[in-house]
Amino acid sequence: MTMCGIVGYIGSKPAAPLLLEGLAKLEYRGYDSAGIATLSGDEIVIIKKKGKLEVLEAELKNTRLSSSIGIGHTRWATHGKPSDENAHPHYDCEGNFAVVHNGIIENYQELKKELIAEGHRFHSETDTEVIVHLVEKYYQGDLLATVEKVVELIDGAYAMVVLAKNEPERLVCARKDSPLVVGLGENENFLASDIPAILKHTRRVFLLEDGEVAAVTKDRVEVFKDGKKVDKEVFEVTWDAEAAEKGGYPHFMLKEIFEQPRALRATLKGRLDNGSVVLDELGCLDRINEYHKVYFVACGTAYHAGLVGKSVVENLARVPAEADIASEFRYREPLIDDRTLVVVISQSGETADTLAAMREAQAKGAPVIAITNVVGSSVSREADAVIYTWAGPEIAVASTKAYLTQLAAVYLFGLFLAQERGMLTGEQVAVVSRALRELPDQVEKVLEQADKVKKLACEWAKRENAFFIGRGLDWAVSLEGALKLKEISYIHAEAYAAGELKHGTLALITDGVPVVALATQNTVFDKTVSNIKEVKARGAHVTGVVFEGVDLGDTVDELITIPKTTPLLAPILSVVPLQLLAYYAAVARGSDVDKPRNLAKSVTVE
Ligand code: G6P
Repeated sequence: MTMCGIVGYIGSKPAAPLLLEGLAKLEYRGYDSAGIATLSGDEIVIIKKKGKLEVLEAELKNTRLSSSIGIGHTRWATHGKPSDENAHPHYDCEGNFAVVHNGIIENYQELKKELIAEGHRFHSETDTEVIVHLVEKYYQGDLLATVEKVVELIDGAYAMVVLAKNEPERLVCARKDSPLVVGLGENENFLASDIPAILKHTRRVFLLEDGEVAAVTKDRVEVFKDGKKVDKEVFEVTWDAEAAEKGGYPHFMLKEIFEQPRALRATLKGRLDNGSVVLDELGCLDRINEYHKVYFVACGTAYHAGLVGKSVVENLARVPAEADIASEFRYREPLIDDRTLVVVISQSGETADTLAAMREAQAKGAPVIAITNVVGSSVSREADAVIYTWAGPEIAVASTKAYLTQLAAVYLFGLFLAQERGMLTGEQVAVVSRALRELPDQVEKVLEQADKVKKLACEWAKRENAFFIGRGLDWAVSLEGALKLKEISYIHAEAYAAGELKHGTLALITDGVPVVALATQNTVFDKTVSNIKEVKARGAHVTGVVFEGVDLGDTVDELITIPKTTPLLAPILSVVPLQLLAYYAAVARGSDVDKPRNLAKSVTVE
């Protein structure tokens, strides 16, 4: 998986402590197991453990390792649960090779089948392991030539480093769509999936590009592409270690906001096939056509994704749906039985209230689908079926990319339900699929407006109260926009269904109070404009969020546009400026953006 951490070392110092130290610098990426491989005499020694680096470190204390070559890895599970066996490095049948890998090998199942038929014995459930067996299969005395051959056979994304017992003087690495950095030292060289892992030892680095394969000895790095030698330009890293962890962004939250197009692509990948939705993970629910009700149950931001889920399921699949806060759901004696489908949404998969709600539902006989980001999490283990969001680890407490990918997952789920129940024609499913596919590029377009949002946020930062209004799905997004702002900038914000404001707190709209008004839902557009006029008439400073080409004239003070898509999918685009608004307002107010006060990333108490 793309966010794992890789390190490699070759030089004259003992490799093991350097590898551990490098892995510790990659901890921020999130992981559930870790391991290293080095040489001892003429054997490859692999030590790998589920859990934190301390577990690995304790294990290493019992082992004498002095070799100056090695590879290491922190794993964030994708294929196969977190376990000692599934941790990297992986090894071949005879223990002649070891590999660490980030990314996903898409054709691993076919390859694995072939390799098993040829007599290879697999030790793990991972996609990665096929790489090392392919190396074993094709090795004829030249590791570089072998890796060049192997990368031709695999599809998908990878950064990998291979160690061969018979070639103690070099490491061979390759990359496609997953980062790999080469660090150049004096009489030693380093490999890592990110700069912080090597910054203590060298600032002279270059990045391997897609399709490149490199042979790394302690005093030389040779890079090849399509068999031809490539000259690499070395650059000097000027960032400090902390900035480097954040990929040059000042905060994880901003980095994660900008990672959203990539995260969305990962969620959608392989699940939209020629105009239909493929969710093989739901194959185990054999009565998908018979459920008479769907409940989305979650906490916080994930609950806001559930609110969108409710509309999507009702709109596309025509099944009655509800969204509920997990801590409410579990105590209100919900009317559920085995014909009710419960969908829990949880980034971490460990939220106590969500878990308890899920167990309550299961006790009443309802099957539970989990939408989660963490493989091997409690929610993923206990659910009847799991749709992973594949957002990669989210570090900032305020959720951004996890939310966007949860939305993508609920769209896939809703569309799948509609397709399986025959509620949409093939053509209708294809239309939504096409629109879904366009979203990652469209999010990129929205992000181009970051500077404009930043200016606006600097004004908002001076205020203590703000409102977010909208109707239908725009209201669901308003709730998330208000939550983001409150969580990190500590500006009090309310989200109101635009038509309800006049029955509630319209009196609080006074001169200059900032209001974001979302108006992306065609069927209620005119009504929403009337509501905007109501707040404008009371002196609010209004920022409209609308589709490109829509002009609200002087009804609003500022206008943020999002690319055109079907209104049902608008939340994925319209929430992005609200995330940026919260972020820049928090920065302007000097908040600790990534670790806001009184909040935790994963709440495991009730
Ligand atoms: C905490 C976090 C929120 C998150 C909520 C649910 O309160 O601060 O950002 O939305 O938990 O977390 P989950 O991991 O279940 O999605």
